[in-house]
Amino acid sequence: MADTEDTEMPDAANLQWSLAIHGGAGSMKPGRFSAEEDAAFIAGLAAALDAGAAVLAGGGTAMDAVVAAVAVLEDDPQFNAGRGSVFAFEGHNEMDAAVMDGATRAAGAVAGTTCIRNPVRAARAVMEQTPHVMLSHEGANRFGVESDVEQADPEWFATPHRRAQWEEFRAKGERGDGAWFDTDLKYGTVGAVALDSHGHVAAATSTGGLTGKRWGRVGDTPVIGAGTYADDRGCAVSATGTGEVFIRIAAAHEINARMRMLGETAQQAADAVMSEVGALGGEGGVIFAAPDGSAGFAFNTPGMFRGRSNSEGLRETAIYAG
Ligand code: GLY
Repeated sequence: MADTEDTEMPDAANLQWSLAIHGGAGSMKPGRFSAEEDAAFIAGLAAALDAGAAVLAGGGTAMDAVVAAVAVLEDDPQFNAGRGSVFAFEGHNEMDAAVMDGATRAAGAVAGTTCIRNPVRAARAVMEQTPHVMLSHEGANRFGVESDVEQADPEWFATPHRRAQWEEFRAKGERGDGAWFDTDLKYGTVGAVALDSHGHVAAATSTGGLTGKRWGRVGDTPVIGAGTYADDRGCAVSATGTGEVFIRIAAAHEINARMRMLGETAQQAADAVMSEVGALGGEGGVIFAAPDGSAGFAFNTPGMFRGRSNSEGLRETAIYAG
């Protein structure tokens, strides 16, 4: 079992922590959504931020905080993870998730699950209850049952809005003007990164992937080092965007490598890696949390659903660039 907790509790008056979350990056610009829709997205982000912050403010671990925040986003049908995931080619939902603990570099991931209510909890169970790092598809579903993570009927994940997007995707394909899969990333992956008052970082990411994905396609989210990574010597990272590009440049690990080998700050490393993502034709963003207390974002899209808070009283959420 991975050790994610220190035995000594810090002084309650001296808790220093930080947290950043994302609900995906993409082509949204001001005016893209109605004021009511903007407010609903912000409320969803705030709920996740507050769930993670409550753990950290109480002296809890970064791992507990990132799982708590991501589980809230998975249960919120506005975001492409858990309930509200986009549809795969055949018309069902296949979900991926990962967690990583920066203190021990223990990690767990699931790919292609169809009946685990909160894939992020299954990823954590892989880390804590097996000698493995990633389980996929039917095996991951069976592990979910055997490890007692909460199950959900496949229909629970399938919202009418996502079904309509899938129907539009399939209709385009039948007209002959379709793509391999839908690369309009306006509703993306979700994730959280945190620094806890014990000085440790952790990352968690969860996604339904891309509308129309097929042949068991898996993106960057559950690939440790691509969409998810955490190392106390560098920082915790969670990514969102064109998963294939984030895999090709091992984006989350690359940010850590630049910090350790070039002495860059987390923000400098994240900016540099997002430039590389762009140079290879990728779009999206990353969030980071480092042991120096910094927590932030880098993205090359017009918007990114995001939020951050810390022990100094910062609490902010945003959708659009700037
Ligand atoms: N970034 C999520 C995916 O590509 O599946």
